[in-house]
Amino acid sequence: MAKQFHTSLLLLLITALLSICDSEQLQFSQLDALLRIQKDLNFPAALNSWNNNTEFCNADSNSSSTVVCYEDTITQLHIIGEARTSFLPRNFSVDSFFLTLARLPNLKVLTLVSLGIWGSLPAKISHLSSLEIFNMSSNCLYGAIPPELSSLSNLHTLILDENMLAGQLPDWMDSFPDLTVLSLKNNKFNGSLPDSLGSLENLRILSLSHNHFYGMVPDLSRLENLEVLDLDSNALGPQFPELGTKLVTLILRNNSFRSGIPSEVTSYYQLERLDISLNTFVGPFQPALLSLPSITYLNISGNILTGMVFENMSCNSELEVVDLSSNLLTGKLPKCLVSKSSDRTVKYARNCLDGADQNQNPSPFCHTEALAVGILPERKKHKGLSKLVLSIGIAGGAVGGVVLVGLIVFLVKRGNAKSQSKNPPVRFISENAASGYTSKLLSSARYISQTMKLGAVGLPTYRTFSLEEIETATNYFNTASLMSESSHGQMYRGQLKNGSVVAIKCVKMRKGYSTQSFMQQIELISKLRHLHLVSALGHCFECHLDDSSVSRIFLVFEYVPNGTLKSWISDENSSKSLGWTQRIAAAIGVAKGIQFLRTVILPGVYSNNLRITDVLLDQNLVAKICSYNLPLLSNLGQVGHGNSSSKSKSPKVNKSNKYEDKFDIYDLGVILLELILGRTMKSKNDVDDSTKLLQASLVADDDARRSVVDSVIRRASLDQSLKTMMEVCVRCLAKEEEERPSIEDVLWNLQFAAQVQDSWRLDSQSSSDWSPESPSDPARIAFH
Ligand SMILES: *[C@@H]1O[C@H](CO)[C@@H](O)[C@H](O)[C@H]1NC(C)=O
Ligand SMILES: *[C@@H]1O[C@H](CO)[C@@H](O)[C@H](O)[C@H]1NC(C)=O
Ligand SMILES: *[C@@H]1O[C@H](CO)[C@@H](O)[C@H](O)[C@H]1NC(C)=O
Ligand SMILES: *[C@@H]1O[C@H](CO)[C@@H](O)[C@H](O)[C@H]1NC(C)=O
Ligand SMILES: *[C@@H]1O[C@H](CO)[C@@H](O)[C@H](O)[C@H]1NC(C)=O
Ligand SMILES: *[C@@H]1O[C@H](CO)[C@@H](O)[C@H](O)[C@H]1NC(C)=O
Ligand SMILES: *[C@@H]1O[C@H](CO)[C@@H](O)[C@H](O)[C@H]1NC(C)=O
Ligand SMILES: *[C@@H]1O[C@H](CO)[C@@H](O)[C@H](O)[C@H]1NC(C)=O
Repeated sequence: MAKQFHTSLLLLLITALLSICDSEQLQFSQLDALLRIQKDLNFPAALNSWNNNTEFCNADSNSSSTVVCYEDTITQLHIIGEARTSFLPRNFSVDSFFLTLARLPNLKVLTLVSLGIWGSLPAKISHLSSLEIFNMSSNCLYGAIPPELSSLSNLHTLILDENMLAGQLPDWMDSFPDLTVLSLKNNKFNGSLPDSLGSLENLRILSLSHNHFYGMVPDLSRLENLEVLDLDSNALGPQFPELGTKLVTLILRNNSFRSGIPSEVTSYYQLERLDISLNTFVGPFQPALLSLPSITYLNISGNILTGMVFENMSCNSELEVVDLSSNLLTGKLPKCLVSKSSDRTVKYARNCLDGADQNQNPSPFCHTEALAVGILPERKKHKGLSKLVLSIGIAGGAVGGVVLVGLIVFLVKRGNAKSQSKNPPVRFISENAASGYTSKLLSSARYISQTMKLGAVGLPTYRTFSLEEIETATNYFNTASLMSESSHGQMYRGQLKNGSVVAIKCVKMRKGYSTQSFMQQIELISKLRHLHLVSALGHCFECHLDDSSVSRIFLVFEYVPNGTLKSWISDENSSKSLGWTQRIAAAIGVAKGIQFLRTVILPGVYSNNLRITDVLLDQNLVAKICSYNLPLLSNLGQVGHGNSSSKSKSPKVNKSNKYEDKFDIYDLGVILLELILGRTMKSKNDVDDSTKLLQASLVADDDARRSVVDSVIRRASLDQSLKTMMEVCVRCLAKEEEERPSIEDVLWNLQFAAQVQDSWRLDSQSSSDWSPESPSDPARIAFH
C-alpha cells in the first residue's frame, strides 16, 4: 500500500512540473528557429503538425519528431525522416541550416536522421557548444570531419553512421574527454586509426565498421569501459588489437588480421559476441573460447586457425551460434556442440574434423596447410625411445600472403610415423607425350602460358616424410640405391610406397644445430616448386637422441630420369641428340626456370651459376634446373642427380651488384650456344670465340649461318627460327651486363623461335611443295 502511495505522489509531482513548463512561453527566437528548420528541411512529413500555433514544449511526441524543453529553452530536438532515398532540394544549404540550429543555444541532444541532408559538416557546428548527443545518421554528409567539431567538448555521443564522410579520423579525438559512444559505421573514412582513440577512457562503444581504415589498431587497453568494438569490413591488421578485458562485443570480421589469437581473449569474462570471421588469423584455435562465461555468439569462420579439438571439450550452455567453418581444425567435434536443441546454430564445414558431416576436407589437407602457415612449436618429451625423429613441416606456399610467424615442430615417435605416410598419392608431371616435348605443345601459346601459370602443376603437396618412409624407400640406404656421393653426403634413388620414384639427398650435419636453424632454408626449398625446377617433395630431419640437434637432413626431390641436357647434344651422343624443336623447348624451360627463381621469393634467387650439366631432362624431355643458388644447398652441395660433379654454389658476386640478374642471362647464353653449336664450351675463350663466329654468321647469308650450326639441326631448322635463336644467344653473351636482355625478352624470343619453327613444320607436313623461301612471312605468325 505504501508503495502505491509513493508512486501516485511521484506522478502528481511530475504533472505539476509539466504544468509549470506549460505555463512558460518558448522564446520567440527559438520558435522561429523551429519553423525555419521545418522550412529548411523542406517540410518533412514528420513535422506536418508544426505551425505558428504549435505549443512545442507541450506537443505530442511520437517516434518521428520530439522537442524537449527545459524551462524556456529547447534542450532536445529529434527529427527522424522517412528514408534516405531523397535528398533535400538544390537550394538547401547545410551552412545556413546549422546557423538556424545555432539559434537553439541550449540544445544538448540533436537527432537528425534520414532527412536527406546533404553537404559537408560546416565550421558553424562549433556554435552548438552545449551538444552532448549528436546523431546525424543516414543522411548524405560528405567531406571530412571539420576541425571545429573539436570545440564541442561536452560531446559524449557522436553518431554519423551511413553517410559519405571521408578522409582520416582526426587525431584530436581526445578533445572529447566524456565521449562514450563513437559510431561512424558505413562511411568512406580511410587512413589509420589515430592513437588518440586510446585515451578516450570513457568510451563504451566504438563502431567504425564498413569504412576503409587500415593499419594497426591503436592500443585500446586503457579503455577500461569499452564494451563494444566493431571494426567489421575495414582493412585493419595484422596484429590482434590490444584491448581491455570488459568487452561484451568484439567484431573484427572481414579485415586483414593475420596474427594469432592472444590468450588474453580467454579472460574476457563479459564477452558475449566474438566475430573474427573472414580474416587470416593463424595459429591454434583456443577451445577455451567456447567456454567463456558469457559467450553466446562465436564466429571464427574463414580463417586459418589450426589445432585439434576433442570430444570432451566443454562449452558454455548459453551458446547460440558457433561457426568454426573454413579453418584447419582437426580432431573430433566437441560433444557439447552436438546438441539436439534446435535453437543453437553450429557450423563447422570445411575443416578436417573426424567423423563429422558438413563437408570436411581430408586431414592431410589441414596438416599441410597448417604447416604452410607456420604454427608455434609445441614440444612434448617422449622418453625411453631408441631414436627420435624430429620433422619440421613446411608446405609449399599454399596460402598466399601469409606471414610466417614460426614453424611447427612435430616431435614424432617413430611409431607414429606410419600415420604420416597416409598422404595423397605422389604423382609426377606427365605431359602425356610419348615422343618427348612435342612441337604441338610448344606451338600453342595458350598451352605455354597455362603451364606457366600452373607452375608446379602435377606435383604432390610438399610434406614432411618420416624416417621410416625414407628408410623403406631406399631399402635402408642400400648401396644399390646410391646414385652419387660427395663429401657433403649421398644422393639415393628411392621408391615410395605408392610406387613413385624419388631422389633423396642425404646430408650429414655437424652436431649442435637445432632444427630451427634450418627452417628458413627448408621454407625456401618448399617454395621452389616449378615445372622447370627439380622440385622438392618434402624433407625429413633425423635428430641426435641426446640433445635433439639435427644429425641428418633428407631432402626428397622428384626423380628426373633422363640425364643432363649435356648428354643430349651431338658431340656427347649423336644417336640421341635433340632435334631443333626440342632444343628450343629445353631453352625455354631453362629460361622459365630462371624467371621463376627470381620471382618466387624476394629478393629473388640470382647468380645461379648455371651450366648445361645443371639441367636435367625428365621422361618427356622437359628441362628442369637441378642446381640453384640457395644457402643451404651451397653449404650442403647441390641437388644434382649423380653424374654431375659436386660444385660449390658460392655466389660470385656482391649482392648489391646492379646487374646481378644478368649473370644468369650470360649463363643461359652459354647454354644456348651449346645447343646451337651442338658441343659444350671448354673455356671462357671458347665461348668468346664461338660468340664471334655466331655474330659474324648473323650478318652473312642464310647458308653461312647454317654452316656454323650443329649438323643435326642444320636441315631441320627454319631460317627465321635459327636466326632468332642466334641473335638472342649473342645478346645474352654481351660483355657489358647492361646490354644483355631481360629474362622476359629472352623468353619472348625463344617462344617466337619455337612458334615460327613449329608453324613451318606443320605447314611443311600439310603441303609438300612448301619451301623456306615461300612468301609466307613467318613474322606474321604471331601471338594473339
Ligand atoms: C527552395 O526552393 C523552393 C522552390 O524551388 C522553395 O519553395 C523553397 O522555399 C526554397 N527553400 C529554401 C530553403 O530557400
Ligand atoms: C508524428 O506526429 C506528427 C505530428 O505531431 C505527425 O505529423 C506524424 O505523421 C507522426 N508520425 C508518425 C510516424 O506517427
Ligand atoms: C506565422 O507567423 C508569421 C509571423 O509571425 C506570419 O508571417 C505567418 O503568416 C504566420 N503563418 C501562419 C500559417 O499563421
Ligand atoms: C541514431 O538515431 C536513430 C533514430 O533515432 C536511431 O535509430 C539510431 O539507433 C541512433 N544511433 C545510435 C547509434 O544510437
Ligand atoms: C583517403 O581518401 C581520400 C579521398 O577520399 C584520398 O584523397 C586520400 O588520399 C586518402 N588518404 C589515405 C591516407 O588513404
Ligand atoms: C569485406 O570488406 C570489403 C571492404 O573492406 C567489402 O567490399 C566486402 O564486401 C566485405 N565482404 C563481406 C563478405 O562482407
Ligand atoms: C560467420 O561469419 C561468416 C562470415 O562473416 C558469415 O558468412 C556466417 O554467416 C557467420 N555464421 C553465422 C552462423 O552467423
Ligand atoms: C580429452 O581427451 C583427450 C584425448 O581424447 C585427452 O588427451 C585429454 O586429457 C582429455 N581432457 C580432459 C579434460 O578430459
